Amino acid sequence: MTDARLVVAGAVVDPATRRLLLAQRRYPPEVAGLWELPGGKVEAGESPEAALRRELREELDVEVRVGSALAERVALRDDLTLIALRAQIVAGTPRPADHEALRWVDTVGLGEFARDGLLVPADAVWVPELLTELGG
Ligand code: CDP
Repeated sequence: MTDARLVVAGAVVDPATRRLLLAQRRYPPEVAGLWELPGGKVEAGESPEAALRRELREELDVEVRVGSALAERVALRDDLTLIALRAQIVAGTPRPADHEALRWVDTVGLGEFARDGLLVPADAVWVPELLTELGG
């Protein structure tokens, strides 16, 4: 369990509406149609914060300010570790360049996505923490 590469996802919350941004995956087939916190792999020499800013610029065409990490880390298959960092949009309106669709959800919406099994499996670990954060 050493040197797993990191995948960084963004827990993007709009403080004005207390909603979280979910993005619907197009690929691969196992998770196509399911919803995730958007993000991607951290490249060699890149910090997780910089990777998240890059990924959200590429995937959503927004600039974000990156904050602290959510508590849970997830060991994905093939030596990848998934983390989530809090983020807020500071410029732009998110548009799905790589995803099928985007959705802002409140606590009720997030609870429904989770209950209905519509989140990618790894991301389900963050639901309790995110519900507290959105509702608290
Ligand atoms: O595009 P890139 O290859 O950088 O990353 P990705 O394909 O979006 O994500 C890499 C891996 O992390 C895939 O196995 C995704 O399913 C997983 N992932 C996840 O489980 N939850 C997320 N919120 C983001 C990625």
